[in-house]
Amino acid sequence: MLVCALAHFAAMTPLRRTSSETESFAARPHPRRERLVRRWDRLVERWSRDFGSSFVEDYSLAGAERHRALHRRVYDGRIEITEHRIRLHDLPESFRGLRIVQLSDIHHGLFLPFHAVLDAVEMTNRLQPDVIALTGDFVTYSRAYIEPVAAILGTLRARHGVFAVLGNHDFRVGDGEVTRALQRHGIEVLRNRHALLRHAGHALPIAGIDDLWYGADLPRALHGIRPGAPTILLAHNPKIIRRAAHYQVGLVLSGHTHGGQINLPLAGTVFGRSPEQMRFRSGWDRLGPTQIYVSRGIGTVVLPLRVRCPAEIPQFHLQPHEPGRDSQARLNADC
Ligand SMILES: [Fe+2]
Repeated sequence: MLVCALAHFAAMTPLRRTSSETESFAARPHPRRERLVRRWDRLVERWSRDFGSSFVEDYSLAGAERHRALHRRVYDGRIEITEHRIRLHDLPESFRGLRIVQLSDIHHGLFLPFHAVLDAVEMTNRLQPDVIALTGDFVTYSRAYIEPVAAILGTLRARHGVFAVLGNHDFRVGDGEVTRALQRHGIEVLRNRHALLRHAGHALPIAGIDDLWYGADLPRALHGIRPGAPTILLAHNPKIIRRAAHYQVGLVLSGHTHGGQINLPLAGTVFGRSPEQMRFRSGWDRLGPTQIYVSRGIGTVVLPLRVRCPAEIPQFHLQPHEPGRDSQARLNADC
């Protein structure tokens, strides 16, 4: 009861203020607010310590068998690193083995304090990725967390760069401010456009769209890319899958669902129960020519709690498609 009451207080309080009140409250130093935030952080940490090990369990990813996951997982009690081999048609040989690490739904704020974001960033850097994909929802309700989260993410390192798209919460808080903060810290924000990764005379398109509810424009993002090219699309909301399949996108990296966040025995997940969300809620899947991976993400919303649905940092190893090897995956494809 106490947990619910406090979570309700933390989740709802910012919504009771007007936007200008929230801005001024967040912008200037406010001792009472700082004290509350520190107290809240300590409380969340204590819950993690006391309940984390018994409430949070590992579970198998949907489709892990089908896309021949490497089955190596690192789980430190809070964040699970999962590894996945993705085979793409027409992937240039020079990009064989390219490693992409995805961070999604960080939701820096009361529920996910500074040091937790720092942990996720350090874990990502230790993987020494070639590309880092940030798939939105950097903050939840307050502008006060935009600059801090952008500054930490600015310490991410990847050989071919760090790319980001915005999520629905980023738009609610301020898409322009989030974009500018990320760019200031060296992150390339893909807003309905694409970039080209170049290596050994070959190019690999990486595209990104705005959130589905806030102006996603897939044709614009893909403009100039040859149909059927092994395009990687960053899209916060996995519902883009049908349109992405129509445009023959090779791989979509999404988040948004938090994997359901609270996955109760028998009852299933609390969040995301529509048929489409049930199918594209977590892990790997395929629709026609398009593969999708939906990360469970890092942070939480509504409650600072995950049940049988640990936070996740997925790592992808790209390989060229080799005819015959993926026959079972094709059989399972559901167009
Ligand atoms: Fe989210």
